[in-house]
Amino acid sequence: MNILTFPSDQELNEAGAGIVTGLVQTNPGAVLGLATGSTPIGVYSEMIKSFRKGMVSYRRVSTFNLDEYAGLPREHPQSYYSYMRTHLFDHIDVPESNIHIPDGTAANVREECERYDRLLEQTGQIDLQILGLGHNGHIGFNEPDHALIRGTHAVRLSETTRQANARFFNSIDEVPTHAITMGVGTILKAKTILLIVKGSDKAGIVHTSLTGPITTECPASLLQTHPHLVVLLDTEAGRFFG
Ligand code: F6R
Repeated sequence: MNILTFPSDQELNEAGAGIVTGLVQTNPGAVLGLATGSTPIGVYSEMIKSFRKGMVSYRRVSTFNLDEYAGLPREHPQSYYSYMRTHLFDHIDVPESNIHIPDGTAANVREECERYDRLLEQTGQIDLQILGLGHNGHIGFNEPDHALIRGTHAVRLSETTRQANARFFNSIDEVPTHAITMGVGTILKAKTILLIVKGSDKAGIVHTSLTGPITTECPASLLQTHPHLVVLLDTEAGRFFG
């Protein structure tokens, strides 16, 4: 595990984007696992800057997003599809056909999860999986539980997660109650995992996740078992690390 702490948001974002663009420069057909939420926005904007400078092309890259809200159509402004278009895909040259995000409106959720897992399998191993961290230790939408599911599945969002995400909606009542998420088995199969954590409110959970017991009650703690884990922290999130 390689934990790097950055004095400024800008430096962290540049470092994160540098890891992604470096990979795509050496492996133009890379498979990227992508996250949404506030955390990776700055990294995505630095990736866009490098793209605009002509340093990298995403024409042959495939992307798989971690999760999508259940019940939100793609066009909904808070769907993760809309988020990805706004913060990354509309500004780089990744072809629409290479973009994969679970369909939150699928009539048969089980079939949608199986379809997503099949696609992941056909495309091959994820080369680099970007992750944010939930306040309760969730990764993707794998919430703390007595057991975790390996593949893509539907989840009921915990109240803490719904409250944390309510800032993007008009009210908590509008926050979906369920989501479709990649499972921890798929996340852990990625060749490299890039965990990005920002802010003092996550200092405790990132420390527990990376140094505490490995338990499904803190899904991010399973990342300790991954052979190629890179963690980018800002000074606030990293304050419990020596
Ligand atoms: C998003 C995701 C979530 C977020 C986490 C942190 O695709 O899978 O696990 O990474 O909830 O969210 P932010 O970055 O908004 O604090």
